[in-house]
Amino acid sequence: MTQIKAAITGICGYVPDYILTNAELETMVDTSDEWITSRTGIKERRILKGEGMGTSHMGAEAVKGLLRKTDTRPQDIDLIICSTTTPDFVFPASANIISDMVGAKNAFSYDMQAACSGFLYAMSTASQFIETGRYKKVIVVGADKMSSIVDYQDRSTCIIFGDGAGAALLEPSTDGNGLIDFVLKSDGSGINHLVQKAGGSRRPPSIETVTNREHYIYQEGAAVFKFAVTNMAEAAAQIMERNRLTSGQVKWLCPHQANKRIISATADRMGIGEEKVMINIHKYGNTTNATLPLALWDYESQLRKGDNIVFAAFGGGFTWGAAYLKWAYDGDQFA
Ligand code: ACO
Repeated sequence: MTQIKAAITGICGYVPDYILTNAELETMVDTSDEWITSRTGIKERRILKGEGMGTSHMGAEAVKGLLRKTDTRPQDIDLIICSTTTPDFVFPASANIISDMVGAKNAFSYDMQAACSGFLYAMSTASQFIETGRYKKVIVVGADKMSSIVDYQDRSTCIIFGDGAGAALLEPSTDGNGLIDFVLKSDGSGINHLVQKAGGSRRPPSIETVTNREHYIYQEGAAVFKFAVTNMAEAAAQIMERNRLTSGQVKWLCPHQANKRIISATADRMGIGEEKVMINIHKYGNTTNATLPLALWDYESQLRKGDNIVFAAFGGGFTWGAAYLKWAYDGDQFA
């Protein structure tokens, strides 16, 4: 029997209009364009403005665009998984809200939380529903309104994050293209270095938590950097080794866009040059769950059927991992 794989058959992104530049950040905190560019590679990021606008708005826009371009009817979607760290509400799930907004009446839907590795976790999970033959059309959405948990008085975090969303359609494939393998890892002791301290069940919101600015991202940047640089590169190398992929056979690295220096270290460890690395961190910063699908969306027109793509990500938790996917269509077919 031919083995079913989960292929990405369409990709779409959405970023809000408002552009927060390094120049504007210079007026908000003690920083400089030179520092931000040299330490992170980021030039600007998008911010979702407007009362009552949450992560689901961006996720739904990405899904609507995806349904349009792939000529898919919303009622034919079986499942929507939304990976997000900034859901609209603690409950209900943003995936439920997105399903309603796009008219996916026959889909069940749920959220996944793995910080910046979320899309990798969600794509790997989604692929299992397809490989078993149980479902035919699964959408994975990676979306975050990071500006809702960023402290714009903290120069070490506010320069990094941006808002955005991306969505991928996964369908069964029997021609050998699709998700081939993944390595997913986690280490909960990372809570000491990267956490939103309040707002959950351990420390519910109170006047004290608000006064202490505990609803914002707390990050010990240097410690996270060290862990990220080692583990993202190691996971990417591991996925290559166990699939006997040489650096010459890798067509693209699609890395989480947290810091240009972490991306370069991963590419070096894989033995590939910059021309094979998808990079858009300069435009969007770190959009957490949206970085991988936004990178695929930006590079889609250059992708060819059968291209070997290695994904690598790292995030809060800690969570990290890598995946190997054979691209299933010529990207310029949607141009
Ligand atoms: N402008 C100017 N100076 C700054 C700024 C800024 N925006 N931010 C920090 N500095 C200063 C610090 O105060 C420090 O000064 P000091 O030496 O006088 O104390 C100096 O720069 C160095 O600070 P570091 O934090 O060591 O700077 P580093 O080179 O490590 O860069 C950064 C900071 C960009 C945050 C980096 O550590 C990083 O990218 N870390 C990894 C982030 C990541 O991958 N997170 C995981 C995903 S996020 C998620 O899952 C939600």
